[in-house]
Amino acid sequence: MQELNQELGFFDAVEARRSVRIFDQESSFDHEKVQKCLEAAILSPNSSNLQLYQFIRVPESSPLKDQLAQLCMRQKAATTARELVVVITRRDVWKSRAKANYDFILNSNQNQSEKKVKQAGSYYKNLIPKLFGKYPGWSLIKKLIAWWVGMRRPMVREVGETEVRISVHKSAALAAMTFMLGMKAVGYDTCPMEGFDSKRVKKLLDLPTGSEICMIIGCGQGLPEGIYGPRFRVPSSELILKK
Ligand SMILES: Cc1cc2nc3c(=O)[nH]c(=O)nc-3n(C[C@H](O)[C@H](O)[C@H](O)COP(=O)(O)O)c2cc1C
Repeated sequence: MQELNQELGFFDAVEARRSVRIFDQESSFDHEKVQKCLEAAILSPNSSNLQLYQFIRVPESSPLKDQLAQLCMRQKAATTARELVVVITRRDVWKSRAKANYDFILNSNQNQSEKKVKQAGSYYKNLIPKLFGKYPGWSLIKKLIAWWVGMRRPMVREVGETEVRISVHKSAALAAMTFMLGMKAVGYDTCPMEGFDSKRVKKLLDLPTGSEICMIIGCGQGLPEGIYGPRFRVPSSELILKK
């Protein structure tokens, strides 16, 4: 059993992490560690560094915790969780995040070349608005442009609205993974969930219209019976290929 003051190294945490569905109700749970692991999670790589996600913490003390657990289809991973972390995407705040990135580069590159600032401008003020802007028919037009350009040279094809949403979810999921490994490293367990009523959760937590829920993560000290079976993975040769 891992002591709570003893942190695991990376590979030990990866090895030890399991999705745990029943959390201990008796032992103390240090909610500060959730904060620490979320601070680590936001260091995860994310597309264009736009950081289009948020983590909504719903600890056991919150009046919303029980209702939220009910909306996670009453899964034990939610009802017994000492804290639920709702990972949401914020595609809608792309403008302010693009500006924040541009301003950061502008202000931190005073001694660096004008070229870098120009490049940042063309990326965050020109390319990103083209990708994230929403106008009638724009998604189709972007796809057609990508197809047309792609006839002649390598071109990113995933430019339509659905692909933009997927891209935002990818970054949110990577941050969620960092969080879960961090939690294991500090001695706690997690269970990622996509079994929830997103419409009702959005209403309950008063989430912004433009947000989407990537996953909800149950957190706590796992009980042995919360691991529903031995770990199973298909042979790595089916998952890791070399060309
Ligand atoms: C995006 C995502 C959604 C998941 N949703 C649920 C869920 O709703 N309920 C649940 O019990 N487990 C859920 N899981 C956990 C998976 O079942 C689990 O990761 C998988 O069986 C592998 O087991 P392990 O995590 O213990 O290695 C989810 C995992 C991911 C990554």
